[in-house]
Amino acid sequence: MTLLDTIRSRRSQRAELLDTPITDDDIEYLSEAARWAPSPFNVQPWALLFVDEPETKAALGRLSRECTAEQLGNADFVRDVARWTSVTGDEWRDRGDGVYLGDQLDESSLAHTVAPFLMKHARAAALLGKLGAGQGPGKATERLLVEAPLLCVVFRDGTRVSPGANGAMWTSLAIGAMFQNLLLAATERGIGGQFVCAALETEDGRREVGALLGAKDSLEAALILRLGYLSSDADKPSVRRPRDAFVGRNRFEEDA
Ligand SMILES: Cc1cc2nc3c(=O)[nH]c(=O)nc-3n(C[C@H](O)[C@H](O)[C@H](O)COP(=O)(O)O)c2cc1C
Repeated sequence: MTLLDTIRSRRSQRAELLDTPITDDDIEYLSEAARWAPSPFNVQPWALLFVDEPETKAALGRLSRECTAEQLGNADFVRDVARWTSVTGDEWRDRGDGVYLGDQLDESSLAHTVAPFLMKHARAAALLGKLGAGQGPGKATERLLVEAPLLCVVFRDGTRVSPGANGAMWTSLAIGAMFQNLLLAATERGIGGQFVCAALETEDGRREVGALLGAKDSLEAALILRLGYLSSDADKPSVRRPRDAFVGRNRFEEDA
């Protein structure tokens, strides 16, 4: 497999992960890949915590459930999500961006049936969310975390900020490079990874996740990943815009 094959086959896996615990050797391999990521001034602004204790996964799951349910009561959030969600697979493939509804919600669920209507009517959706309609998606999010054999929580280390007026942005870019290294190493080892970030949407949520995991105040939770081995027939499509939609040479062309 070439590096490009590995890059292309990495997926955000909502599929079921095998129960098999991830070996220490594989955790070391992922950590080593993360370790060699580039960062501005080599500040290495990250900390990783691998979580496999059932009680801790349950607590993170509970928090994610509550945050997901709360988000779905926010009309602005629902409207933004609708903008990036395709109702049909054909629409998703034609667009080449965003997410596909069928991946996000169980196709047999009531939420999946009513979602297309609700996405067009964000205020109604948010009202239903406030009345508790977000509990179903919230529970699904909780299950993703509770049932995964391993979670990896990525922290931004506030004592390791890049110099420069744009330090916060350089630091975020470095964290992105770090977790992509980790995810590619995971892909190579047959491990699926998925971001489950609802609990980190707000400052309170990030603080709560940090407190739950005993993080110092200088560490800010930035990402929650669930990890697990994939069955050999796991196959999940994804889409991207064509290269010429975002790659140019020398100057941007004026819009036609
Ligand atoms: C910083 C970041 C946060 C993300 N958060 C979530 C999330 O909370 N839940 C989720 O299902 N996917 C999340 N994703 C995954 C994206 O939805 C996914 O990468 C995108 O739809 C493309 O799919 P693919 O990675 O399978 O190609 C996140 C991705 C990134 C980079």
